[in-house]
Amino acid sequence: MHRLAVLGHPVGHSQSPRIHQAFASQVGIDIRYDKIQPPLDGFEARAREFIAAGAKGFNITVPFKFDAYQLADTVSDSARIAEAVNTIRVQADGKLVGDNTDGPGLVTDITVNLGWRLRGKRVLVLGAGGAVRGVLGHLLAAEPECLHLWNRTPAKSAVLVDQFDGLEHFASGDELESAYDLVINGTSAGLTGRLPAIPARVIGRNSCVYDMVYSDQTTDFNQWCQANSALATSDGLGMLVEQAALAFEIWFGLKVKTEPVIAMLRAT
Ligand code: ATR
Repeated sequence: MHRLAVLGHPVGHSQSPRIHQAFASQVGIDIRYDKIQPPLDGFEARAREFIAAGAKGFNITVPFKFDAYQLADTVSDSARIAEAVNTIRVQADGKLVGDNTDGPGLVTDITVNLGWRLRGKRVLVLGAGGAVRGVLGHLLAAEPECLHLWNRTPAKSAVLVDQFDGLEHFASGDELESAYDLVINGTSAGLTGRLPAIPARVIGRNSCVYDMVYSDQTTDFNQWCQANSALATSDGLGMLVEQAALAFEIWFGLKVKTEPVIAMLRAT
């Protein structure tokens, strides 16, 4: 039995145990995947306790991805660029290898599952928090024609623009262009029932819209985009499952099928 877990605060709502159990059943591996909620100032102690109990690895979610980045003994390029770790593998010698599968998970969901193109497209990203920082490098690597970044607090997005080549910063919504090919909402505005204050003209009839959060109903942001004639909208459930599949591959060296797991989560 391989021991795995997700560490977050809060963590009660996490779908990760179901997702990883489904992957494990697909490939016939016996796992136990727990949810662990360390106190806000107690990530490292709780993580080390879990490692001492024989963990093969663990996922890390909000607000501990930077703590996990600091905890890891070595990190992948993906994690270094994001300064965030969402997956740790415990090596046989006890060393902790940190990776970040959020960016590749998002890009796979957009380009493979949804079949939307990134290469050569005009892309707008909203937000400048940890969720956005974690995916910018992978979005840029997919070679969009342009990647524009807007954030409610421009000082925060300005910092990201200094760190990522090719990113263009828009301090005010008024300066944004019209009808982007792809708009990605990486803000947490929806969690408080709000919409990011951007002009409706950024959405056009050919705009695809990706909300990085997921919900069993159409998210408020996607509803707003549909009302503004967006071509297609998606929430972030596929990203969640794709980032998990990449974590599973890091732990076990095995590729798993994601569509049946996405379908299972949609159905329940
Ligand atoms: P996460 O780890 O989920 O990215 P975060 O680091 O707290 O969380 O970042 C939240 C992001 O959502 C930020 O970009 C935040 O904007 P500010 O930098 O201005 O705080 C954005 N956000 C939260 N509520 C918002 C709202 N009502 N309108 C627009 N952006 C909002």
